[in-house]
Amino acid sequence: MAIGQETGQIDSLHLLSNQYDALLEQTDHMSPLALYGKAKVLERLAELEKANSVLERAIHFYREVLFLGPAVPDGLYRLAGEHCSKLLQFRGWPSKAIRVQQMLVTRLDNDPQPRRQLGVLYLTVGKNQEAEIVFDELLQKYPGDKYAMAHLGFIVKSRALDKNDMAGVERAVDLMQAGIDGVPQEGLFYFHLGDGLRRLGRSAEADGVYQKAVDNKIFPSFWQRSLYNVDGLKAQPVWTLKDTGIGSELEKLKRNWKVIREEALSVLSSGGFAAETENLRDSGKWAQFDLFVRGRKLDDHCALAPVTCSLIETIPLVSTNKRGQVKFSVMYAGTHVHAHTGPTNCRLRAHLGLKVPRSNSTEAAQSSTRLRVADKYLTWAEGEVFVFDDSFDHEVWHDNVQKEERVILIFDLWHPELDTEQKMTLPAI
Ligand code: OGA
Ligand code: MN
Repeated sequence: MAIGQETGQIDSLHLLSNQYDALLEQTDHMSPLALYGKAKVLERLAELEKANSVLERAIHFYREVLFLGPAVPDGLYRLAGEHCSKLLQFRGWPSKAIRVQQMLVTRLDNDPQPRRQLGVLYLTVGKNQEAEIVFDELLQKYPGDKYAMAHLGFIVKSRALDKNDMAGVERAVDLMQAGIDGVPQEGLFYFHLGDGLRRLGRSAEADGVYQKAVDNKIFPSFWQRSLYNVDGLKAQPVWTLKDTGIGSELEKLKRNWKVIREEALSVLSSGGFAAETENLRDSGKWAQFDLFVRGRKLDDHCALAPVTCSLIETIPLVSTNKRGQVKFSVMYAGTHVHAHTGPTNCRLRAHLGLKVPRSNSTEAAQSSTRLRVADKYLTWAEGEVFVFDDSFDHEVWHDNVQKEERVILIFDLWHPELDTEQKMTLPAI
């Protein structure tokens, strides 16, 4: 919209707002329609003026509608509640949005929609147990509700994986399979249904799910299943150092690998690493020590690895990467990391080998300590870097019989095809 047009609109909205004030006074603030109208005008104004104070006033008036209770017709009650809840979330107040959503559930008891939204809200604030209760209730009232089934499956799966409960994973998969058509274009459910099937050893079915998602343009490709993507970025599982655009910086890092290794091993021996918590492992031991997260340097951790961090800071493509991390990673013999996929195609992931157990000749043939990305296999060497795209399906093994741990530096760089504007504005992951 042209600037002049926008100013004109703001002026007339202010006029309208004043008229609503008069109406509100006449009706003693008891007319649901007048309150709703005032709220809508303020909502639009808040959008145009980008003002939180106006947004908060809009929330206030929507809430007034709800507090009139039975005097408000169902349809208007729903509209006011939905707008109010949406604005509260936008304002960053999800707990308040939950309370409004609960009012909608109570009032519109014979409609599945408010319960669905309440369940999702609980999930977004990490209250999975509460969400589960809501979706359970939904299914009791509406046994065929696919939306509830898919979401319940998602919740059951994450709990089952926490407890290594394969029967739970099976139930979760059944629920997601039954519900997935009720949540169209939701990549998350395809992602977790496929993953659940794979964990159960049902890979052919998992492949079918992934293929269907690709056909529906939910994933970029069968192997690349990230959900936060920028369209059109070059996509290949393995990258040469040169193609990253920071080949010479990577060479410099390689030249300093021994200092980096000293720092990693010293943090490791002081017990600084934290065990992996994403349920990606089915055996063994794997731990990490973060240095940069979402483009922010962790000062207390970097104090223990000062050279590594200052080297990373000379590579802005890595140190400012809001969609990535820099971390030491240790993997002990006997570890298998399930096939998994990173969240975004906006980064490339580099591994610098710091301590890599030597393989004997038979093992070397099988490369027993290895990473698979799509259909390519990579293996580490001390002082060497490889770069892959972790939005592609990848899997890791460390089953070297010499039983020494493998230590590497993992660092994510922005995809070289992103422009400055995109790097500044893309939300962090
Ligand atoms: C990864 C990965 C970690 C490791 O880097 O994305 O899954 O320590 N592997 O090998
Ligand atoms: Mn990974």
